[in-house]
Amino acid sequence: MSNQLEKVKELIELRTQARLGGGEKAIEKQHAKGKYTARERISQLLDEGSFEEFDMFVKHRCTNFGQEKKSYLGDGVVTGYGTIEGRLVYVFAQDFTVFGGSLSETMALKICKVMDQAMKMGAPVIGINDSGGARIQEGINALGGYAEIFQRNIMASGVIPQISGIFGPCAGGAVYSPALTDFTLMMEGTSYMFLTGPKVVKTVTGEDVTQEALGGASVHSSKSGVTHFTAQTEEEGLGIIRKLLSFIPQNNLEEAPLVMCDDPIDRLEDSLNEIIPDSPNKPYDMYEVIGAIIDNGEFLEVQKDFSKNIIIGFARFNGQSVGLVANQPKYLAGVLDSNASRKAGRFVRFCDAFNIPLVTLVDVPGFLPGTGQEYNGVILHGAKLLYAYGEATVPKVTITLRKSYGGSHIVMSCKQLRGDMNYAWPTAEIAVMGGAGAVEVLYAKEAKVAEDPAAFMAEKEAEYTKLFANPYNAAKYGYIDDVIEPRNTRFRIIRALQQLQTKKLTNPAKKHGNIPL
Ligand code: HXC
Repeated sequence: MSNQLEKVKELIELRTQARLGGGEKAIEKQHAKGKYTARERISQLLDEGSFEEFDMFVKHRCTNFGQEKKSYLGDGVVTGYGTIEGRLVYVFAQDFTVFGGSLSETMALKICKVMDQAMKMGAPVIGINDSGGARIQEGINALGGYAEIFQRNIMASGVIPQISGIFGPCAGGAVYSPALTDFTLMMEGTSYMFLTGPKVVKTVTGEDVTQEALGGASVHSSKSGVTHFTAQTEEEGLGIIRKLLSFIPQNNLEEAPLVMCDDPIDRLEDSLNEIIPDSPNKPYDMYEVIGAIIDNGEFLEVQKDFSKNIIIGFARFNGQSVGLVANQPKYLAGVLDSNASRKAGRFVRFCDAFNIPLVTLVDVPGFLPGTGQEYNGVILHGAKLLYAYGEATVPKVTITLRKSYGGSHIVMSCKQLRGDMNYAWPTAEIAVMGGAGAVEVLYAKEAKVAEDPAAFMAEKEAEYTKLFANPYNAAKYGYIDDVIEPRNTRFRIIRALQQLQTKKLTNPAKKHGNIPL
């Protein structure tokens, strides 16, 4: 064998060795837990054969605790680029088979390299987390590595989409990288995120709690709102990431891909002309409205189990990607509260940062009253959503279906928050407050001296409702651009979005605003 062939053979052997990560035994252990390896995950995530790996020969440099005798090619992370539906993406996947995927100084350098490359190319970065945290043997160098990654997360925010998949442990300060990214996906049963694990919790607070109950996927999807998506299997999780990318652009200077639409743009949905119940206190299901108006009923819902009184997610109208925000009358009457406000506020800001138009469907009775909300800072949280809509310069189309009262009317993308096209159904009720509350404030004293207080109040409420519980009062002032037939909603939204395609609007130059965090 020639010298050159010898060297080629050595290269092939080294590559084979690197592809084994922590070795066959560790891979078996990973599979036994029902988990794929880093490389298997990447190959399922990306278009077949598109992955090109960086830094396969990187090794850690630590000499503490005899680490110099124990090292693996590539260290604990697989990094590189590939394509999803033909579009460039950068990826890193922590390799649990190498020191439990724990973060070393060199691992951090590898991750930072793909993040820097993604920023230069203007392409999304997807991180798959499965790690025991900072590599304990490396001490402060591992911590410094985390900080380097966080800094890049912050600089990339609003420039390129950043997506985090949590496919195993993600604990301690490590959770802050996913938290800084745009979307987080967690695996049911095999992943968890928490700042301090059950043992520390027990020591500090005395509380007994399992990993699952402290930071499992269901906790973060329904209670904390930390995760945006959950999946039962890794295949499903990776599929959600691929689908999510189909709705969003490569970077903040581009637009989301336009998809061929075979759903007729002028499709009339007669059922919508009868969906609003006669009684204002009766709910209906906003998902039915969403399903009826978007292209082929295809909706990628975000944070579906968190604060169900508001629905957010991606859909398309005539092939154009939009961010959809809708009150859900079926859950807590669609009221706005702290969680709903921060859920929708963050989503509106993502869409605005990445040139995705906003379609808002309104049926909101108001903000949830009470000490629970006030002590929890609903003033600040509500202001987040208000700020997000007011700051957004993307096309904004708002449809008021039924209730739109008080502060919540303003917050939900009203005309004066630079709503571009604000339509209402004939069933819309746009007013300062609902009839019962209004007459209580206006006529409580008179009612006391009335012959029949109940009848007196009912009469006043009917008067108020006749005057205000309609869309025409707002339309009279131009706060509503048109009152539309519900069955024609899809067509009117598509027309509005077409009209708004060349929209140009910029906010005043500033370092950054001071959103009420
Ligand atoms: C070095 C680590 C490691 C770590 C795991 N390993 N975590 N090595 N540093 N942080 C190694 C293990 O020693 C083991 O090596 C291999 O990875 C697999 O780990 P196991 O424990 O066998 O796996 P499992 O039973 O599945 O348990 C996974 C685990 C557990 C729950 C993650 O390993 C664990 O509790 N690790 C420590 C977690 C932790 O406290 N990390 C530091 C947090 S502080 P061998 O050679 O036996 O296969 C932190 C600060 C970040 O991260 C701050 C950022 C700002």
